[in-house]
Amino acid sequence: MNPRPADPRRTVPQHRPRLFPGALLVPLLLLLTTSCTDTNTGSAPRRGASGVGDPLFPTLGNGGYDVTHYGLTLDYAPATHRLRGTARITARTTRALSSFHLDLAGLHVRETTVNSRPARATRHSTELTLTPATALPKDRTFTTTVVYDGKPKTLTDPDGSREGWLRTADGAVGLGEPTGSMTWFPGNNHPSDKAAFDIAVTVPRGYAAVSNGELTRRTTRNGRTTHHWRTRDPMATYLATVAIGRFDIHTTTADGLPQYVAIDPTEAKASRDVPAQITKITAWERRTFGPYPFASTGAIVDHLPDLGYALETQTKPYFAAAPDQRLIVHELAHQWFGNSVTPRTWKDMWLNEGFATYAEWLWTEQHHGRTAQQTFDDFYDGTDDESKGIWAFPPAAPPSPGHVSDPPVYGRGAMALHQLRRAVGDPAFFRILRTWLKTHRHGNADTKQFITLSKRLSGKPLDKLFKTWLYAKAKPAR
Ligand code: TRP
Ligand code: ZN
Repeated sequence: MNPRPADPRRTVPQHRPRLFPGALLVPLLLLLTTSCTDTNTGSAPRRGASGVGDPLFPTLGNGGYDVTHYGLTLDYAPATHRLRGTARITARTTRALSSFHLDLAGLHVRETTVNSRPARATRHSTELTLTPATALPKDRTFTTTVVYDGKPKTLTDPDGSREGWLRTADGAVGLGEPTGSMTWFPGNNHPSDKAAFDIAVTVPRGYAAVSNGELTRRTTRNGRTTHHWRTRDPMATYLATVAIGRFDIHTTTADGLPQYVAIDPTEAKASRDVPAQITKITAWERRTFGPYPFASTGAIVDHLPDLGYALETQTKPYFAAAPDQRLIVHELAHQWFGNSVTPRTWKDMWLNEGFATYAEWLWTEQHHGRTAQQTFDDFYDGTDDESKGIWAFPPAAPPSPGHVSDPPVYGRGAMALHQLRRAVGDPAFFRILRTWLKTHRHGNADTKQFITLSKRLSGKPLDKLFKTWLYAKAKPAR
């Protein structure tokens, strides 16, 4: 495998070990036994559901509340790999709750409180169930604290990729797409529940701890340094990160936007132009897609070459090695498509990957001469390397969790957008993109809403086009 990922899809191993079938049975049984209580509409306090009903990941997220803020206080010892954490979660009930769930994988739970009073905790698979001393009324803000510790684990997804907590030569990194954030903090682990974050990470002096948002404070006591990071704008749990290790820090402000780039010294030479590329590409995407949605831009360039993918972690995409320009274009485009406007369920992953891939095609068209039409043709004819496997299923309908990051979601998703552009023309196409971003900024949206918006703004009947390019199994006629 290419140790310097040029592209997120190409770098994902093609042949993945499969999970044994029984692994799917446990979450399924859990869902059947606990979520059926959620259909009752009465106002008496009931148990919160163990999932939000994602069509691909039924146990992700939880029912009955909405998180508004995560306060994570983490302490990591690279020498022993031990993490100690306190999660202070502020949420609002969406109905009266006698108990509720959080998602958490591994780790030891030491103490749990709800509204400062001890709450009973039980665990089953990746579900942590908390029962407060008294039931929570509907539409009430409440605060949960979970004190936990242990060696966080790495998850292997059904498609074989690794996520969650990963050790590096000089530290570790937390990555969470689609499920891994629950290996390092408890929460409502589903893209539909976005929240503000304050992440404070204590590490031995000399280590950096880089996370989402802006660094507000750094204090050193007894040879240990605490880095305080703040994310004011809503963030999905899968976009949260913390990278611990030795990093060279490059900060600047470009067009009024603070930029923070952390580069592992091992990648320093190959990443010499990354800070300038981040500036240039962020500026181009602001011109192309409209206002930058967050308070800062940047990147983390780590040294984890066999990871095989990059991730669009909010405000600072994570690169496992020095990235090339196209990969930066892709991950920064996600700040608009995916991070600001987030799919309501994982089924709509093409709203992330199709758009970020199309951003690459647009960048290439405007900087190197291969038009998006030529890229489309190369994908259609199969002459582009990245077109491998794009006809396996329609982009808006990944058939199972193991397929959410497969080539159709990226390549054929981008092809659908190109067909839209051809059908409505450039002015309407870019108006659709910008209106999409403005309407759903910091929120969630789904494919149906994109289709409705496209039809309304173009005044064209596009049902057939979307049906063909997003939902039809067969390779469409050009
Ligand atoms: N979403 C990432 C990107 O496109 C890629 C990615 C992250 C990924 N996690 C993954 C791909 C797991 C496959 C499997 O930039
Ligand atoms: Zn992507």
